Amino acid sequence: MDALHLLTTRRSSKKLTAPAPNADQLEAMLQAATQVPDHGNMRPFRFTVIQSAEGLQRFREILCRTVTELNFGDDVMRKAERVGNMAPMVIGVTFAPNREVAKPKPEWEQMLSAGCAAYGLQLAASAQGFDNVWITGMWVNSPLLREAFGCSDKDKIIGLMMIGSSVEEGGGAKNTDLEQFVTTW
Ligand SMILES: Cc1cc2nc3c(=O)[nH]c(=O)nc-3n(C[C@H](O)[C@H](O)[C@H](O)COP(=O)(O)O)c2cc1C
Repeated sequence: MDALHLLTTRRSSKKLTAPAPNADQLEAMLQAATQVPDHGNMRPFRFTVIQSAEGLQRFREILCRTVTELNFGDDVMRKAERVGNMAPMVIGVTFAPNREVAKPKPEWEQMLSAGCAAYGLQLAASAQGFDNVWITGMWVNSPLLREAFGCSDKDKIIGLMMIGSSVEEGGGAKNTDLEQFVTTW
């Protein structure tokens, strides 16, 4: 797919089914995610790839246990079940600020790099013909999910990238009215 066409027409999709990316396609996505702008080479991102039947089952159970343990009730439990079954591949993106080096770059810059990494995953999935959506919701604050993703106290789950093949037509380009957003000098 032409890169500019992809960048100007990409849309999210929340109704996803198999197939998901294969091993080579996944590798390309993770390579794209790690080529993002990164001031000082902080590498402040971690990825948790959930794709096996057991992994997806574990993911669903973590979401549902989160609802049970925090007493969120039936409506949220239905949401947990929906999110847990949303896609045949989930990639958790964790912002892991680098504080180890002598002069770490500001955390806001590092978080932007991690956000770019999440977008890189989306773009590389779309470029290979897969549909996807970036979600967060209350799930990213789940202590159980944080533990399962190996988060330390300073880390933050910034995205659950839902990836697969859409069961419905895409939304089409947004054709943004640029005037509201752009000042030209
Ligand atoms: C950091 C971040 C978190 C998001 N969290 C959610 C979410 O929890 N649920 C949701 O429906 N959309 C969420 N979105 C928005 C979708 O990913 C998507 O961008 C939106 O539905 C608009 O669709 P589009 O990407 O086709 O324009 C999030 C986006 C970002 C960047």
